[in-house]
Amino acid sequence: MTSPARAPQKRLFVKTWGCQMNVYDSARMADVLAPLGYAPVETPEDADMVILNTCHIREKASEKLFSELGRLRAQKEATGGRMVLAVAGCVAQAEGAEITARAPFVDIVLGPQSYHRLPEMVARASRAAGAVIETEFPTEEKFDHLPEVSAPQGPIAFLTIQEGCDKFCSFCVVPYTRGAEYSRPAAAVIAEAKRLVAQGAREIALLGQNVNAYHGEGPDGVTWSLGRLLRELAGIEGLGRLRYTTSHPRDMDDDLIAAHGEIPALMPFLHLPVQSGSDRVLKMMNRGHAAADFLRIVDRLRAARPDIALSSDFIAGHPGETEEDHQATLRLIEQVGFAQAFSFKYSSRPGTPASAAPLHVPEAEKDRRLQEIQALLRDQQVAFNRSRLGMRIAVLFTGPGRHPGQVAGRSPWLQPVHAEGGAELAGRILPCEVVATHPNSLAARILELPFGEARSGDPPNQEKAAA
Ligand code: 5AD
Ligand code: SF4
Repeated sequence: MTSPARAPQKRLFVKTWGCQMNVYDSARMADVLAPLGYAPVETPEDADMVILNTCHIREKASEKLFSELGRLRAQKEATGGRMVLAVAGCVAQAEGAEITARAPFVDIVLGPQSYHRLPEMVARASRAAGAVIETEFPTEEKFDHLPEVSAPQGPIAFLTIQEGCDKFCSFCVVPYTRGAEYSRPAAAVIAEAKRLVAQGAREIALLGQNVNAYHGEGPDGVTWSLGRLLRELAGIEGLGRLRYTTSHPRDMDDDLIAAHGEIPALMPFLHLPVQSGSDRVLKMMNRGHAAADFLRIVDRLRAARPDIALSSDFIAGHPGETEEDHQATLRLIEQVGFAQAFSFKYSSRPGTPASAAPLHVPEAEKDRRLQEIQALLRDQQVAFNRSRLGMRIAVLFTGPGRHPGQVAGRSPWLQPVHAEGGAELAGRILPCEVVATHPNSLAARILELPFGEARSGDPPNQEKAAA
């Protein structure tokens, strides 16, 4: 990569929509542009370059993009066209041609596989008048060409280990926009994890659209599963916590379930989208499992790790969903008891099988079903948070809290926690007592003395690492 010896400071603003994967990608785009002299700024005003990192899963993704582009166009014109404007992410991947046609003032359109070529594209864009389009690139090359992550991510770091999806759920654009499943070689993942820990990460969240389908090449020449990779990562000194997201029930194999019981650093919280509790709808969604299969997985996870809490995704009103199907979803939610969950109103994505399916559910009906699902999930979340009251838990502190004198962190179950304390505690995993609970967070008191007893969440050996 070309790296001018004394590149002048240029302002880079990245706006990110969507999932953690996009947050991670935005950080990496900033990393590859750092050698060209770009430093991230918080607002688009006076930026020398703006990247809009888009997400197709959310509703009206392209409308939101075009309205944002409308605003930026004026700003670009005010700079005499000097500002570089790039559109990245899944919308760029899927609608690259439309973006250049409707917004010719966009300099660069690039899909998720092309981020390592960003510096070259920026250089070309600054010279050429027309837009640079780069949305086709083999996945394997993306990771190989990216420089090592330079900007420390803090006590909680994200690490992408897998991309793409071959599942083709009826409603989802990911297999079309992110392409086929690809897993990074285990050695590259381990090396990046060690680097993150050296930079101060205490918790690493492994990311992938279908992360538990991970099947990366191992250093021993055989294919590693996610369970195998987790066991290896858990051995990294100084790493206190591990998580992974997002998973598919079909890929929750025996070894991965066992890993939840055997790896103390693997946090007792799992996001496992089920989408529906109706076998009919699950079949229409092409999910490849029945409701009972999901319940069995939950039972086995709880047997392996009794304090595990679950999160999930639900879709209300998939085409063909009846009132009976909706009731089955409510029943499944009641049966499992979720610590938190996301729920969405079905929204048609052109090109997916569900969008062409008959019997679309009327909007008002989808609204009502979504509200019922959300009310139930909200009650469960409040109950779960309340159940932590008085509990002794380990909190990973991450930085200053919202109010002066407060330090913020995360519980083993990913709940935001605040306690009295200074920001210098960031990066410490400390024993705390939960003193109050709220619908979306916990208040805790830091305990001075380490516990002599086993607690839920983090095992005692992690306190030693934290001390
Ligand atoms: N409509 C509604 N929700 C969707 N999701 C993905 N595609 C759609 C869609 N077309 C939801 C699923 C997925 C989550 C990331 O977004 O629940 O798990
Ligand atoms: Fe989309 Fe997830 Fe289904 Fe893949 S498994 S198609 S990413 S919903």
